[in-house]
Amino acid sequence: MKVMITGAGGQLGKEMAAQAAMRGYDTIPFISRELDITHSGSVRDAIFRCHPDAVINCAAYNAVDEAEREWKRAFLVNGLAVRNLALAANEGGAILVHYSTDYVFDGLSTRPYTIADRPNPLSRYGESKLLGEQAVRDHSRRYFLIRTSWVFGPGNTNFAQKVIEWSRQNDRLKIVDDQVSSPTSTRDLAGATLDLLETGKFGLYHLTNSGSCSRYEWAKYILDATGWKGVLLPARSEEFPTPARRPAYSVLDNFGAAEVLGHDLPLWEDATRAYLEEMGEIP
Ligand SMILES: NC(=O)c1ccc[n+]([C@@H]2O[C@H](COP(=O)([O-])OP(=O)(O)OC[C@H]3O[C@@H](n4cnc5c(N)ncnc54)[C@H](OP(=O)(O)O)[C@@H]3O)[C@@H](O)[C@H]2O)c1
Repeated sequence: MKVMITGAGGQLGKEMAAQAAMRGYDTIPFISRELDITHSGSVRDAIFRCHPDAVINCAAYNAVDEAEREWKRAFLVNGLAVRNLALAANEGGAILVHYSTDYVFDGLSTRPYTIADRPNPLSRYGESKLLGEQAVRDHSRRYFLIRTSWVFGPGNTNFAQKVIEWSRQNDRLKIVDDQVSSPTSTRDLAGATLDLLETGKFGLYHLTNSGSCSRYEWAKYILDATGWKGVLLPARSEEFPTPARRPAYSVLDNFGAAEVLGHDLPLWEDATRAYLEEMGEIP
């Protein structure tokens, strides 16, 4: 298997490149400086030069709040560039693997969202990722479109990393308890993606670590594990106004993925602990 990875400098991209190489795949990672996915000519050239079996797109514009103002940039990277990737992958005979988000949903559901549920994004970021989904579904002949949530892994700022940084500077923290989803580690997401790729069963998937929690519960797990001695208090989202609205409940049901893979992904608590160990935050 020969895989080309775009956005290989991001948290998922780095892990993907490492795991693909570990599996013995011929792995060709491109960081943003080497390949800007908004340059359709460069994308096409790279695919024709590398002749990959699969293009794994880990590149994205992920600044949820900034996207309210910079929405054209978000739409370009998360939407239009994905259409170009899909067309070039088709032409080059490659499978496209692309990621989307739980933020395509409005969060009003009272049960986990399945792949049959209708997206209704609350933010420009969510709209931009939905545009990317449509580009994949409209233009890609063979694809894996994978929605995931609350991604964390070594190599970039993420919520877990921020909680640890805040805990070093404060002995009292307030974290929202009215946003609920599933933290998902890059390690488990990359592994499950490559497992899916090997099945050849193309389509739309939800892939997250198992279980769900609020931001507050996730922070509490991290702070207890790292032995922080401060006070953690639950808060409501209204106390921290942000430009972008976020869904209150965006747990994804992995039905479909679990059936193809033959197993669920590990629990978010175990994935978080493994990350904290890898980062040297707990012994
Ligand atoms: N992070 C989350 O909580 C979360 C939640 C749900 C879904 N997802 C999705 O999961 C996937 C992986 O996310 P992640 O957390 O690994 O993201 P990440 O750490 O922010 O990495 C994204 C990478 O994309 C690169 N990039 C940005 N614009 C680019 C362009 N025009 N051309 C090429 N590369 C570009 C960035 O490079 P620079 O840093 O140089 O700009 C960065 O290395 C994305 O599709 C994301 O939308 C993420």
